[in-house]
Amino acid sequence: MKEQVYRNLQRKIIALTLVVSLAPLLILGMTLYYQFEATCREKTKEQIRYRAQAQAEAVDLFLKERTAILNAMADTHTFDHMIDEKNLARIFDVMNAHAGAFVDLGIIDSIGTHRAYVGPYDLRGRNYFDQPWFNEVIVKGHYKSDVYMGFRRQPHFIIAVRRHENQQAWILRATIDPNRFEEIIRSAQIGRTGDAYLVNRDGIFQTRPRFEGDVLEKTSLDTTQFGGRVTVIEKADPTGEERLYAGSWLNDNKWLLVINQQPLELMSRLFALRQTEIFIITLGVLAIMATTVFTTRLAISRLIKADQEMIELNAQLMQSDKLAALGKMAAGVAHEINNPLAVILQKTGWLEDLLAEEEFKESENIAEFRKSIAKIEEHVERARKVVHNMLGYARKMEPRLEDVDVNDTIHQTITILENHARINNIDIQVDLAETIPIIAGDQAQLQQVFLNLISNAIDAIGSNGAIEVDSRRRDDVIVVNIRDDGPGLSEEKMRKIFDPFYTTKESGKGTGLGLWVSHSIVSKMGGSIQVKNNHDKGAVFTVEIPIVIPEKK
Ligand SMILES: Nc1ncnc2c1ncn2[C@@H]1O[C@H](COP(=O)(O)OP(=O)(O)OP(=O)(O)O)[C@@H](O)[C@H]1O
Ligand SMILES: [Mg+2]
Repeated sequence: MKEQVYRNLQRKIIALTLVVSLAPLLILGMTLYYQFEATCREKTKEQIRYRAQAQAEAVDLFLKERTAILNAMADTHTFDHMIDEKNLARIFDVMNAHAGAFVDLGIIDSIGTHRAYVGPYDLRGRNYFDQPWFNEVIVKGHYKSDVYMGFRRQPHFIIAVRRHENQQAWILRATIDPNRFEEIIRSAQIGRTGDAYLVNRDGIFQTRPRFEGDVLEKTSLDTTQFGGRVTVIEKADPTGEERLYAGSWLNDNKWLLVINQQPLELMSRLFALRQTEIFIITLGVLAIMATTVFTTRLAISRLIKADQEMIELNAQLMQSDKLAALGKMAAGVAHEINNPLAVILQKTGWLEDLLAEEEFKESENIAEFRKSIAKIEEHVERARKVVHNMLGYARKMEPRLEDVDVNDTIHQTITILENHARINNIDIQVDLAETIPIIAGDQAQLQQVFLNLISNAIDAIGSNGAIEVDSRRRDDVIVVNIRDDGPGLSEEKMRKIFDPFYTTKESGKGTGLGLWVSHSIVSKMGGSIQVKNNHDKGAVFTVEIPIVIPEKK
């Protein structure tokens, strides 16, 4: 019952303390983490946006350079000069020497015929009149194609410029090395999950992506989501992983440079932080839990001990009160009984005298009379012994104060009982501390206590056994233990042995007052008698006597 109460209390205290102390810690940890995650995400977006823009600028520059050199060549050379393929080849070399990445160069006349060509394919004589790009370059004056297969069955794109000479249009057209071009784009594919590619307005790949699809295939990306110059969107990639897509339109607004990456890869610092945070919080939680459990247990165990002590103290107080009340009553009763006993004894003496007379001697019941009188005397004697004990206790309630050597008193007591013990083959061992001080007290009373305890021990053993008596000083008290190897005491006995008239001895043998008187004497001295069973066998009575230093005379 009580244990349950303590356990509940302990559980409640622990739970409350944990909630109150852990909640702020966890809330703080979570808030910090989410704040940091938000910041990290923002930074990551910023970073990828910047990369897309920078990369687009690099691609624009690349294209601008190529277009510029093409324009310069068209401006500085005539159609007639260039349809001589030797001249065209020289121009081609110059272009590659200054800008590079040109695969071929060709001159197309106003009706779409490829008039001169330098490059790996045999394109001379081909006609482009029907092709949409030819029309566009004639109208607009310049042109950049999407990537396409064309006659050469390989993805590539071209740039072309138109010039007029003598009312005749002609076109200078160059193919850009797809490998060189792709290299530039690919340089932006970083990390484990990073990708970079170009798509046109219809979402057709212009360069080879790293993960999804191939050149001239269609992307899953909706290009209309990318407005303005640079746009960052978050969406799941075809494998279901969350990705950041940054798209930057090139200057001609036809091609979109896309850089994408899984944000988690970019947020490695976040994970490092999370690890550290989890580690610190776990450590904190463990420390808080351990201290809470430890301190609560300590507090509860102190509480239990204090409660226990209070219960014991209460029991002791009740016992003392009870014994004191009983003592007063017993002394009164004893006094009242003493007089009738004296009268009975006197009258039995008289009866005995009468029986000695001649007339009674002849009576046939004379033997019966004598036996009865003897019985009466025996029982009166027993009653007198009880009364004597009780009165002795009552009288001695006011102890005399003299110098008492406790060890000496023990020795004297043992001397009195030695013979009785030896007859019963009981060995009395003594182990007395030498440094016990002389105290102020009543030696006769103390001796009565030891006498009671040691003779009880002898009686308990019966025959064949040992008694140990030891004394020592502990702080301000003298502690005397009387230990026997008799049968020990049941719990029920332990509760009752200090009550007056409680005895287990056969009637006539014990009054049951020995321990009661001893208890009263020691209590008066401010000390205590306690009893416990030994671990192995028998009982031990412990007498504690406070040290009262005698006044100097
Ligand atoms: N050392 C002991 N071992 C076992 N039981 C004991 C011991 N000392 C006392 N008792 C028990 O306590 C009872 C009460 O003891 P107490 O000294 O008060 O009375 P008593 O010895 O029976 O009678 P009296 O002291 O008048 O001879 C004893 O009868 C005995 O049963
Ligand atoms: Mg006794």
